[in-house]
Amino acid sequence: MLTGKRILLIVSGGIAAFKCHDLIRRLRERGAAVRCVMTEAAAKFVTPLSLQALSEDRVYADMFSLTDESEMGHIELSREADLLVVAPATADILAKMAAGLADDLASTVLLATDKTVLAAPAMNVRMWLHAATQANAATLRGRGVLFVGPNEGAMACNEYGPGRMAEPLEIVAAIESWFMGKLAAPDFHMALPQPPEAIILPHRPLLGRRALVTSGPTREAIDPVRYISNHSSGRQGHAIAAALATLGADVTLVAGPVSQADPVGVRVVRVDSADQMLEACQVALPVDVAVCAAAVADWKVARAVNAKLKKAPGAAPPVLELVPNPDILATLSAAGINRPRLVVGFAAETEDVVSNAVAKRTRKGCDWIVANDVSAGSGTFGGTDNTVHLVTAEGVEDWPKQSKDAVAARLAVRIAQHLVA
Ligand code: C5P
Repeated sequence: MLTGKRILLIVSGGIAAFKCHDLIRRLRERGAAVRCVMTEAAAKFVTPLSLQALSEDRVYADMFSLTDESEMGHIELSREADLLVVAPATADILAKMAAGLADDLASTVLLATDKTVLAAPAMNVRMWLHAATQANAATLRGRGVLFVGPNEGAMACNEYGPGRMAEPLEIVAAIESWFMGKLAAPDFHMALPQPPEAIILPHRPLLGRRALVTSGPTREAIDPVRYISNHSSGRQGHAIAAALATLGADVTLVAGPVSQADPVGVRVVRVDSADQMLEACQVALPVDVAVCAAAVADWKVARAVNAKLKKAPGAAPPVLELVPNPDILATLSAAGINRPRLVVGFAAETEDVVSNAVAKRTRKGCDWIVANDVSAGSGTFGGTDNTVHLVTAEGVEDWPKQSKDAVAARLAVRIAQHLVA
């Protein structure tokens, strides 16, 4: 894809700088040559040696190094590149770029270049939403600087909102799009939530709260070797359990058969069938919040047998009689004195996603429904991304397409807001 392309990667000083290692690796495996310039602050987060080892090129940091200047002046650095990528682009370097400051090698290269610049902003939510940064970004966009991200999500400082650097593969995708001529300044805009939302929570806001999460498929036995199940990977449910634990909750995850690793700091109860899942959930009560993300099989076999069903020569295939499984979400939503304060269900729909979810919220008696499109081609089942709508009594929020981890982080923050209020 990027064979022979030369990228000048400018690394500025933010916690996201560690993602540069992966970015360089991804670019190199696609055939690009990567040369790095780093700011003094970047060297507090990543070492010149690691960038040099991964890029297999020397790393430039000092504008006043005579050796650097004699071997490769700052003008040549950008002249030799096809594209300049600033990742992470801190509020500081965006401000310098907008103002035309040139007080170190990185900013000097950026001012001296006539090449296209792609910036991947990364900073605290409030810094990104600050009018000064927004004005700088708008100025730069007006001058043709391209942006990828920032993404919305949980931040290192217990805040939530836009400010996370785009993932390395998203940056690579933007770079590839640019080389293919698909990315032009006017069409490529940052996805800012409307209105911009920054949620500031206390440290570990769910400390002392109990949470129950169901995840994965269930397996309904036909006989000792056969079962009815579905394609659920458990990725979303496990991510929610992990996100709630990160915010301090005491989490019980009741998981059907999945290959996901157990989330750190979460009590995991493994089950097979819907009946077992319901029982494990009831044992976990009382909880403050229950999130039913499992894809529970709707039916089980009326009479599962203890011996393997045999094929008899010439005999008709067996007929399976199915009976409904217990509805765990509806049961928890009606749990009387043990009803969790907040019950969240999922609605996997292939059509009329939102209207079906609104009806499901009432039918199941839960408080919120996270509705997602699982139609063929959406890539939700088993995939890493999810596009969801949060249906509450107050209305419907459409969340942008994001990773299942990002959906989980945002949902956990919303749960914390609700319970802490
Ligand atoms: O009815 P439907 O399967 O579409 O509802 C989906 C929601 O209900 C999910 O939150 C799922 O975890 C939950 N559910 C359940 N028990 C069932 C069926 C669904 O908890 N038997």
